[in-house]
Amino acid sequence: MSATVGVLAISGSLRKASYNTGLLRAARDIAPEGMAIDVHPGLGDIPPYDEDVRVAGYPAAVADLRDKVVKADALLIASPEFNRGMTGVLKNAIDWLSRPPGPPLLGKPACVMTAATGALGGALANYDMRQVLSVCGVFVLPGREIMVGGAKDKFDGDGNLTDASVREFIRTHLNVLKAFVDRHKI
Ligand SMILES: Cc1cc2nc3c(=O)[nH]c(=O)nc-3n(C[C@H](O)[C@H](O)[C@H](O)COP(=O)(O)O)c2cc1C
Repeated sequence: MSATVGVLAISGSLRKASYNTGLLRAARDIAPEGMAIDVHPGLGDIPPYDEDVRVAGYPAAVADLRDKVVKADALLIASPEFNRGMTGVLKNAIDWLSRPPGPPLLGKPACVMTAATGALGGALANYDMRQVLSVCGVFVLPGREIMVGGAKDKFDGDGNLTDASVREFIRTHLNVLKAFVDRHKI
């Protein structure tokens, strides 16, 4: 029997009732057998990237996030679309995670998701994440497009996913992520 696949889930939204954080909670609740998803409490305490600060020593919140990423077998990242890209807080965190020693993102498998009130489901943020993460050495699952449009009708007022078909859709992709990690685990 293969070991449990540990997944770190990171949201690009700081909003309390965030649809995107809601996607991550839903994923955690329906994770397939053999997969455990830990939803990171949020990127609000990650300071703006500053090379001078990095050289002096990673701030505690950044060091904690880097450590969690290093220990994770895979990442699940969900972000709103802000002005046709991922959010600034997420891009900022990715910048911190892309730096030495041993860039934590390098070689990590990941699945990305977006939720938006519009019909396109944050498609441009989804592809922005793919582009940026790829250059950081992340294996973003190809062809796995989780873009949830019309979010207002699929989540409740607290950002909990209420749509059963989206839940099933996510489950399919989590199974693929698990298979990918199992296949490539050393
Ligand atoms: C600064 C800003 C820019 C936005 N730009 C876009 C956009 O380009 N495309 C889009 O679909 N929604 C856009 N939105 C709407 C957000 O995607 C929407 O509020 C979403 O629900 C936020 O995600 P969350 O619920 O996870 O916080 C924007 C919102 C803000 C605050």
